[in-house]
Amino acid sequence: MKILGIETSCDETSASIVEKRKGRKFGKVLSEVTVSQIKKHQKFGGVVPELASREHSNNIDFIVKKTLKNSNISLSQIDAFAATTGPGLLGGLLVGTNYAKALAISCNKPFLSINHLQGHVLVPRMSKVINFPFVCLLVSGGHCQILLAKDYNKFKVIGETLDDAVGEAYDKIAKILGYDYPGGPIIEKLALNCKGKHQFNLPKPLIKNKSKNLSFSGLKTAVRRIIEKGINKEQKFDLANEFQVVICECLINKVELAINSLKGRNKIKNFVLTGGVASNSFIRTKFKLLCKQKGLSFVAPEKKLCTDNATMIAWAGHEILNKRKKGSSLSLSPKPRWRLDSL
Ligand code: KG4
Ligand code: ZN
Repeated sequence: MKILGIETSCDETSASIVEKRKGRKFGKVLSEVTVSQIKKHQKFGGVVPELASREHSNNIDFIVKKTLKNSNISLSQIDAFAATTGPGLLGGLLVGTNYAKALAISCNKPFLSINHLQGHVLVPRMSKVINFPFVCLLVSGGHCQILLAKDYNKFKVIGETLDDAVGEAYDKIAKILGYDYPGGPIIEKLALNCKGKHQFNLPKPLIKNKSKNLSFSGLKTAVRRIIEKGINKEQKFDLANEFQVVICECLINKVELAINSLKGRNKIKNFVLTGGVASNSFIRTKFKLLCKQKGLSFVAPEKKLCTDNATMIAWAGHEILNKRKKGSSLSLSPKPRWRLDSL
C-alpha cells in the first residue's frame, strides 16, 4: 500500500509517498519533497496567509510530480491520496485538499482527510512500536497540548496553552532580538553560548498551579521588557538560556502532573514528544530524563519529522485506512480550527 500525502497548512509545501507492506507494522518513506517558504515570509516577520496560499498554489504540482519521479513510481501505483484538511491557514488547506481530491477522483482511489496534529502525534509509530494509550506533548508554532492518545483517532486534551504556543514564544523573542523567523533554532543556538553570569528571575507562569494548562505570554512580556531596557551580547546568551530553561521547566511540570494523574488508570508505557519544538535538543534531553524517572520510554521523531512535513500526513493516512477501510467524503471542506479532540 502506497499513500501520497500532501501538507500545505502553513508555510511548507510538502509531498511524500509512504509505503507500508502487508503484514508489516512500519512504514517506509519512498520520497519526500518539501519546499519551505521561510525566505518569502521573512521580510514580514511572520507567515502572511495570502502569500502562503499563492506559494502553495504555484508549487504543489511541481512538488507532487517531483516526489513521484524521485520514488520512481507512477501515479497509477498510488493507493490513496491524503491531505491536511486542518487546522491551519484556510488558503493553504484549500490548495492541498483540492489537489488531493482531484488526484483521488482522476485515479479512482480514496481521498483521506488528515488532521495536521494527528499527523504530528502518529508519525513516531511509522518506525517504532508505540502502543495506545500513550501520553504526548505536542509543541509547535501554533500548538501546545498535553494529550492522551487513546487510539489512532481518539485523543483527549489533558492540558494546553491558554495563550501563546511554545514555538510562537520562541519566534517572538527571536524577533525582538532582531532575528528572522523561525526563532526556535536561533534561541537554541544562542543559549549554547550561555556563561551563566547573569540571572533574570524570569516568571514561571502557572507553575504552582494544580491545573495542567500552560501560559507563556507573561514570560514573553518579561523577556521583552528586559531586552527593551538594553542588554549586551553576554546577557543575550544568558537570557536565551534562562528563557529556554524556564519554558522547559513549565512543560516538564505540567507533563509530570498529567502523567501522575493518569498512573494506575491506564497502562501507559510511552511518552511521545512531537511538533517543531521537539527538534530542540535541550528539551529532548530534559524529557528523556523525566521519562527515565517515571519509568516510561521516551520517543521523539527524528528531527526532520518534528517540523511540518507530508510524511506524517501520508503515515496518518495509512493508520486511518488500515482501521477504517474507506476514504473520506469528497464533499468535506477544510477546517482551519479543527481540534484533535473532535475528529
Ligand atoms: O511543527 P512546526 O513546523 O509548525 C507548526 O505546526 O506550527 O513548528 C514550527 C515551530 C516554530 O515556531 C519554530 O520556531 C519551532 O517550531 N522550532 C523550534 C526549534 N525548531 C523549530 N523551537 C525551539 N527549538 C528548536 N530547535
Ligand atoms: Zn505542525
